[in-house]
Amino acid sequence: MSEIAKIELDGKTFEFPVIEGTENEKAIDISKLRDATGYITLDPGYKNTGATKSSITYLDGEKGILHYRGYSIEQLAEKASFIEVAYLLIYGNLPTQTELDIFTNNITKHTLVHEDMKQFFEAYPAKAHPMGVLASMVCSLSTFYPESLDPNRSPEAKDLTILRLLAKLPTLAAWSYKNAMRHPFMYPKNDLNYCSNFLHMMFAMPTEDYTVDPVVSNALNKLLILHADHEQNCSTSTVRIVGSSQANLYASISAGISALWGPLHGGANQAVIEMLEQIHADGGDVDKWVTKAKDKEDPFRLMGFGHRVYKNFDPRATIIKKACDDVLEKMGINDPMLEIAKKLEKVALEDEYFKSRNLYPNVDFYSGIIYRALGIPTEMFTVMFAIGRLPGWIAQWKEMTENNEPIGRPRQIYTGATPREYVSIEKR
Ligand code: ACO
Repeated sequence: MSEIAKIELDGKTFEFPVIEGTENEKAIDISKLRDATGYITLDPGYKNTGATKSSITYLDGEKGILHYRGYSIEQLAEKASFIEVAYLLIYGNLPTQTELDIFTNNITKHTLVHEDMKQFFEAYPAKAHPMGVLASMVCSLSTFYPESLDPNRSPEAKDLTILRLLAKLPTLAAWSYKNAMRHPFMYPKNDLNYCSNFLHMMFAMPTEDYTVDPVVSNALNKLLILHADHEQNCSTSTVRIVGSSQANLYASISAGISALWGPLHGGANQAVIEMLEQIHADGGDVDKWVTKAKDKEDPFRLMGFGHRVYKNFDPRATIIKKACDDVLEKMGINDPMLEIAKKLEKVALEDEYFKSRNLYPNVDFYSGIIYRALGIPTEMFTVMFAIGRLPGWIAQWKEMTENNEPIGRPRQIYTGATPREYVSIEKR
């Protein structure tokens, strides 16, 4: 017999079904709570609220487990290509060779962006943060493809929009960097794979030959896989909630990019490097900064530490830390920021404040150091995260539309003034 949860209110008992996921996660289904009782739940930050049922990503924060469609992040990061993972997330299974060839070929065909979009870039100031540019450009894509405005037009139209977005995001991202440098835009090279093509558009110049270093391309492939999905995080929930109004995919993803930008979410990778540079410039006294992070009067937090769901370790951080050592060694780079990061990690992990609050390095603690080694400028770090997260956002948006989920519309407990009479301005 299935489990029942009982709630007692005003002397009455109400029963609600308990539901269980495929990995035995349990939830009390309170979707009828308000109808039955007149009460709502209050859960700021949605710390205990399941917003949806999803078959895309499973994570266990206590055990440090992360699976995409049942495959472990360790195996995927070790063995798969980012495009394979994108297919897996969006369509549910690993592609056969033929499916992968068709998918790759279709993405390749759409890497160019409309020439008119170049003018948009030119209108931005050189100092524009590339995340602001990227969010605007992705939303602007909707203006070039009006048929995408109805997300439910047809499965074929939906697939075409998905392909366009996957293909064009690296082009838009690389061009936002070229624009900031006031360098000429480099067009995509369709004989290169997804990661190498992005690196080409970022670093090639019309004046000289540029060959993509396979160490760099492989490291980028791994980083993008590690970021590809993370179930109902802040940006993904944003994508789903915007999409739930039946806004088009470009608009929904643009909103996700904006949500990712914040330093408590994807913006943490930029914030980590800025923090390490600050500590370095200040003489490298790690203890002093750990003390600051613990001081409740001081707004400073250890960026790249702590996570809403991982309370023992972040499996992506474990993979990234190793990748970081490998990349720096292969590229012969000696980065003082890595030394500071390692010292900081050691001091914090032994400190009672961090231990008692289960604060561990998250995926972004080391990703910035790899990005630096790959030559990616600091302001582009969160853009790299967005490129990685795109398949996850798309998969979640697609799932939400296919499940016909209702419009997202939380309630609130009102704490403002009770009704009062309007007072004319002379009498106030
Ligand atoms: N440095 C110092 N103290 C911290 C940190 C930190 N990085 N993170 C959390 N704490 C403390 C809080 O002050 C709080 O202490 P208290 O119980 O004494 O009040 C306790 O740990 C719990 O923290 P919350 O902020 O309540 O935890 P929450 O789950 O809401 O926040 C978050 C998680 C936002 C990731 C937080 O740990 C943080 O701000 N980390 C730094 C930013 C960061 O690295 N973000 C990237 C997250 S990963 C990602 O999005 C890809």
